[in-house]
Amino acid sequence: MENILIKNIGKLVQAGENPVLKRGKAMGTLECMEDAYVYTEGDRIADYGLMRELPPALAEIEKRSADPHYEKSVRVLDASGRMVFPSFCDSHTHLVYAGSREREFTDKIRGLSYQEIARRGGGILNSARLLHRTSEDDLYKSALQRIDEIVCSGTGAVEIKSGYGLSTEDELKMLRVIRRLKENAPVAVKATFLGAHAVPDRYKDNRRGYVDEIINTMIPLVAAEDLADYIDVFCEDGFFTVEDTDRILNAGLKYGLRAKVHANQMGLSGGVQVGVKYNAISVDHLENVGDKELETLCGSDTIATLLPGATFFLNMEYAPARRMIDRGIPVAIASNYNPGSCPSGSMQFEMALACIKMKLTPEETINACTINGAWAMGLQEDYGSVTKGKKASLFITKPIPSYDFIPYAFTTPFIDIIVLNGKVI
Ligand code: NIG
Repeated sequence: MENILIKNIGKLVQAGENPVLKRGKAMGTLECMEDAYVYTEGDRIADYGLMRELPPALAEIEKRSADPHYEKSVRVLDASGRMVFPSFCDSHTHLVYAGSREREFTDKIRGLSYQEIARRGGGILNSARLLHRTSEDDLYKSALQRIDEIVCSGTGAVEIKSGYGLSTEDELKMLRVIRRLKENAPVAVKATFLGAHAVPDRYKDNRRGYVDEIINTMIPLVAAEDLADYIDVFCEDGFFTVEDTDRILNAGLKYGLRAKVHANQMGLSGGVQVGVKYNAISVDHLENVGDKELETLCGSDTIATLLPGATFFLNMEYAPARRMIDRGIPVAIASNYNPGSCPSGSMQFEMALACIKMKLTPEETINACTINGAWAMGLQEDYGSVTKGKKASLFITKPIPSYDFIPYAFTTPFIDIIVLNGKVI
């Protein structure tokens, strides 16, 4: 693997040696360096700093790199005044799935709600039927294509959930696909077991029976094959109750699976409270939260992961992100890439929605999509900032006037060169 020197960086964004989880006022501050360099060795960031303080050995490399006869041991990239960012960290996706659901999209246009479609056997159950008929290899290939797509839009680390299997066999199939992605994809992958995503048809009148299958059969098998890092439940009216969620998270914890919760998407589901009770790494969605939920989050270490792409797609009220930040709750933003509520993995689009609809500043948004996203996946030691020793996963922008331009010109491509784990791709 070659070493890389990126020189003449106009602005090196999110660079620093103390990349803590950002909350409150700190969410509005972004550490940047003007006229900077980054040097990567192998798959790690070895050094960064100001161009005028370029260490002599790197200055020598930089000088000699212009000579075509020089044996290059270091690839020199000239950013020519453009910006360099750490890769985005997308901490909530369902990007392993079969087929697509544009028929339901048009049903929604005609007036059906997400919950009505689900009650008629569509939605997640529709995706589960499609997934059942799809081979592990085909699922892997289509997911890898989606990963290529998110890589091109700047993502370098991603969480992927199961939850379109809804049987022991198919949940394991999905998680094995995620494991293959972990082993082969150019991005870092964290796996989440979401057997409790919907109640399958065979348990239509016996939700408790399905929860028992999750607890007694699925979780032990998932743990035995070490297929998941986290466990998640869709805690929502019509899906799983607080009591179900409590039982499942408790069972997961016994196998070392830390909680994440789909909480308060459609109503005041109690998902926030049960998530915090289990010290969830994050509670996700949060379109419907009041003072009680915010109070609960304030006294916890749980991250609020917001998914404005799904709020947009389902045409709902946005999560009260400003109130969360103002109360000191750490906020992450993720794409929620999935076939039902957000068929997009574009973090640029999420950033635009965060700014326009949730009134986050670009700085708050960048923190939510980088360092706080990394924390929401437990990847903060390796991703989310330009820090010595972290993975060399970065991108060089096109010539854009400022980082505000990224959410502002929200369909304009803004990335020129992508480096993932020390490799230009
Ligand atoms: O996070 N809300 C539950 N899960 C996904 C949607 C999944 C689907 O509709 O396929 C979400 O929005």
